[in-house]
Amino acid sequence: DTAVIAVDGPSGSGKGTICRLLARELNWHLLDSGALYRLTALAARHHGVELDDVEALEVLAAHLDVSFKPQEDGETQVVLEGEEVTHTIRNERVGKDASVVAALGPVRDALLSRQRDFAHAPGLVADGRDMGTVVFPEAKLKIYLDASAEERAQRRYKQLISKEPGASLDDILSDIKARDDRDMNRAVAPLKPAPDAVRLDTTSMSIEDVLQSVLDEARH
Ligand code: CDP
Repeated sequence: DTAVIAVDGPSGSGKGTICRLLARELNWHLLDSGALYRLTALAARHHGVELDDVEALEVLAAHLDVSFKPQEDGETQVVLEGEEVTHTIRNERVGKDASVVAALGPVRDALLSRQRDFAHAPGLVADGRDMGTVVFPEAKLKIYLDASAEERAQRRYKQLISKEPGASLDDILSDIKARDDRDMNRAVAPLKPAPDAVRLDTTSMSIEDVLQSVLDEARH
């Protein structure tokens, strides 16, 4: 059994950054499960599949032709059906579509074995919404990262403002709240801490503090 650290939490809680640093520090593999939902949403666009066509979405998810290619600079290049989509899958529209397809049970089931296939020695850092509750319930360590919606909106705003000078903090905050609502109140695999998760409120913590806390948990 491969060691797994499951990291869950809402949008903007810092999971992505923490998981990348953690995987690098431990020299473990990384699963960005959100990318699989984003890729399913993007594949739907490419193939003209509507976001309420559950059967077609399930087929797309099950047959997703994707590869994750680690680059020399430590980043991961994402290729979907031969096309580089590393940056495309990060845009807000794809993120919103991802949270719509992620509410569909058959899509989630179709992505389950693909996620578990990432678990290889020496270990896996798994980033998502249901890593500790559904995908890796046996994980040796489960972390639930949270922060206030206002703080998460601020973080997103700071990331975005250089690329989109017109970005509005109010719009970002309402997007974050809408995403929380969809992720926490859906019928299948709603976002919630596993009963045995270590919960960290990162509202006033730096990235370094959070990384250190998680490493401390991992080492004891
Ligand atoms: O970067 P951000 O946290 O906004 O998004 P993400 O982690 O890439 O995930 C995008 C969407 O996919 C989330 O809003 C969830 O609805 C969904 N998702 C999920 O349902 N389960 C996961 N394990 C990962 C993502």
